[in-house]
Order: sequence, then C-alpha cells, then structure tokens
Amino acid sequence: MFYYRKIGEKNFPFTDLHAHDPHNAKVHREYELQRRMDDFYYKAFSLIRYNRVPGDYLEFGCGSTIRSFRFALKYSRLEPFENRRLFAFDSFAGLPEVSSSDHEQWKTGSMAVSVDQFREVLGHYDAKEGRDFHTVQGFFDKTLVGHKPEEYGLNAAAFVHVDCDLYSSTVPVLEFITPLLQPGTVLSFDDWYCENADPRRGEQRAFNEWRKKSGKKFRLDPYHQFGWHGMSFIVNPASPPSFLKSFG
Ligand SMILES: C[S@@+](CC[C@H](N)C(=O)[O-])C[C@H]1O[C@@H](n2cnc3c(N)ncnc32)[C@H](O)[C@@H]1O
Repeated sequence: MFYYRKIGEKNFPFTDLHAHDPHNAKVHREYELQRRMDDFYYKAFSLIRYNRVPGDYLEFGCGSTIRSFRFALKYSRLEPFENRRLFAFDSFAGLPEVSSSDHEQWKTGSMAVSVDQFREVLGHYDAKEGRDFHTVQGFFDKTLVGHKPEEYGLNAAAFVHVDCDLYSSTVPVLEFITPLLQPGTVLSFDDWYCENADPRRGEQRAFNEWRKKSGKKFRLDPYHQFGWHGMSFIVNPASPPSFLKSFG
C-alpha cells in the first residue's frame, strides 16, 4: 500500500504506510482514497488480463496528484498483457473555463501539472515517456474534437479512465473513445457521484447524452464503484452471445 504525498509537498512522491494518521483529516482522506483506488486498479487490470482484452490504457485527466496514472503504471507491471500501452491525455495546464453550473470546487486553471512535472514524477518509478507511457498534451477541444484515435496510433482500448471533472470536457472524450470500445473494455468515471450524482450534471450528464446517441451499439454493464466518488462499467455486445440465446 502506498501513501503518495501531493505534488509540492516535501519528499513527494512518498510511500510510507506509517504516514497514515487517522486523526489528521487531510492525511486520512488521502489514505482512504488511495486504498480504494488501488483496489479498483488491481481489479480492473486483473480483469482485462484474465479476460484477454487487448488494447491500451487511456486516461483523460491525469494532472492534480497523478494518482490514478501511477496506479495504472503499477498494475500494468503487475498484470502485464501483450503490447498494452499507457496514454495520458491532459491539457497539462489545468481545467479549461468552468461554468457556473459546475461544482464550486472546480476552478479554471486549477489542478495544473506541467508535462515536465508529470514525467518527473513517473521517473521516480523508473518510467520513461515513449517506453512506458505516452502523453497527449492540450485541451480536448484541440486534441480530440475533429481527431480520430488512429492519429495517435490507437486502435483498441482495454481500460479508459475519465477524470476530467467537467461535463464540457467529458463530452469530447466519449465521442473520441467510441470506436476504441470492444467487449470487455473497462470504462470508469472518477466523478460519477460528484454533483449529487445528478444525472443531469457533470460526467453523468455527458454519459447519458452519449448513450442516447450511441443507441444500441453496445451495452455498459455496471462493474465496480470505487471510493465515494467513482463508478465503472464493462462494455459488452448489444446482443448476447449465441450460446445464451438458446436460454431465451
Ligand atoms: C481531477 S484532475 C485529474 C486527477 C488525476 N486523475 C489524479 O488521479 O490525480 C482533472 C484533470 O483534468 C484535466 N482536464 C479537465 N478538462 C480538460 C480538458 N478539456 N482538456 C484537457 N485536460 C482537461 C485537468 O488539466 C486536470 O489535470
């Protein structure tokens, strides 16, 4: 189990279970959050390896603490699968313009981590850009809208983690990843239960609109709820496999 300090804190990154102090609210929250994220990444990476789901890990929104991407790195090593690559999509300049309907915690430019900081942190885990991970830098309206996954050398996704907070950021992500989804892909949303889990707001709103548009192309079967905030799904074909049909 790792306890990661936040960027800018002394000795970052830092791994020490004894750092957990249950009487310090900030430390306690971070510790509990990481414990549950670690569990989710263990499950998701084990599942895609066991089910032999080919393709890459894609994360949309990787700045802030670089927490989830480090779990992806950890479990891509512990649960390796042929040619699985890790991709980090982020502005590396924080959030774009937020609207008054977004959660008040989210502010334009917040959670910015530069691409150099990102590489440096992953370097502490002996990971190098080009060999162990890839970054796509820029706001999604420039890097995703009007672009096809092939332009980044992508042809299948095994695990997509969406952690870009805002409705307006989630819309282009879902549009972009649609052709990469396949039976067994894990699709997770870090902010599923933020904004009161209101289906008309945030990531849930983008998801619901996208589901209406993508119609019956595939199913999204609920998988694992992580922490108090996140939810994940597994992609499956819209029609059941033929052996199930005989059971009506
Ligand atoms: C909550 S942070 C990500 C946290 C990270 N997954 C972690 O575990 O520490 C949200 C990230 O989404 C990025 N982001 C949000 N909207 C974006 C957009 N439209 N284009 C590019 N990046 C965006 C921000 O730059 C920020 O790094």
